[in-house]
Amino acid sequence: MSEPILSLRKVNKKIGKNHIIKDLSFDVYPGEVFGFLGPNGAGKTTTIRMIVGLTNITSGEIIVNGNSISKNYKKAIENIGAIVENPELYPYLTARKNLIHFGRMSNNVTKEDIQHRLELVNLDHVKDEKVARFSLGMKQRLGIAQAMLHNPKILILDEPTNGLDPAGIRQMRDYLRKVAKEEGIAILVSSHVLSEMELMCDRFAIIQKGELVQVEDVSSEEQADIANRHIFEVNDVEKAKDILLSEYPDIAIEIHDNLLQVDATKEQIGSFITYLTSKGIILYQVIREKQTLEERFLQATNGEVS
Ligand SMILES: Nc1ncnc2c1ncn2[C@@H]1O[C@H](COP(=O)(O)OP(=O)(O)O)[C@@H](O)[C@H]1O
Ligand SMILES: [Mg+2]
Repeated sequence: MSEPILSLRKVNKKIGKNHIIKDLSFDVYPGEVFGFLGPNGAGKTTTIRMIVGLTNITSGEIIVNGNSISKNYKKAIENIGAIVENPELYPYLTARKNLIHFGRMSNNVTKEDIQHRLELVNLDHVKDEKVARFSLGMKQRLGIAQAMLHNPKILILDEPTNGLDPAGIRQMRDYLRKVAKEEGIAILVSSHVLSEMELMCDRFAIIQKGELVQVEDVSSEEQADIANRHIFEVNDVEKAKDILLSEYPDIAIEIHDNLLQVDATKEQIGSFITYLTSKGIILYQVIREKQTLEERFLQATNGEVS
């Protein structure tokens, strides 16, 4: 993979006696939508505030495009576009005039840049309407266009789907993926609603009580070396179970509703199928159960959600 655009290295945050973020490390790469997930109070906003320099890091380091946020703030922050709280927009100005206004704060923002951003976030058709009349989703999108005016290499959004209806969430997902792909930038998006992030992100980190639980690809359950639940439909479940256990005594296997339930990797499943068949068991079908992000989170946290 290419160099990470954002790296957290053993980041800690203490406020008074509270140890809010504990040894947090992860990397975000160009072109990916990275989900930063965890229940309310887990420390997502605190982490994002450290990344964008709104609050100090107690120990550890945050590197943005090769620059330490604490040692070389100006160079580091140039690479970041962020919406941490609500996007700051002027309700009495039109979408286009808002962008013109904010564009004046950065160098070299042209009319064409502004037009391009409006198209990218699907607001071209309402660019001359006042922001006061916009829906929350439209305001979020304009906020993103604004955060991207200075051509950042990473866009950071703290819970951008909060308050959006399902249609708004779907739109957000579509254009964040489009932005990451077309502009080749990284997007870090936090959320406490895992189900909303499943189709939006390429990879994700889960934090709980300020600690990293896991980082993985959304599609990791497709990977050959990860054990997934498989359901076997066979002519004789009891016999099939005994046969498998006699050859593979350590596998996790159960019978449910006259079906065999086996947790194993793709490679192991291949061997099981061959072995069962060689012993005369008839296999009608084998299905890999797809786990949702929610289920994987509960598994990773032993069912604790906060
Ligand atoms: N300024 C602060 N002073 C003391 N505690 C804080 C402060 N900001 C956040 N916290 C605490 O840090 C923890 C993480 O909060 P936060 O980062 O807002 O979580 P999240 O964004 O994941 O919901 C919470 O327990 C919260 O109460
Ligand atoms: Mg938060």
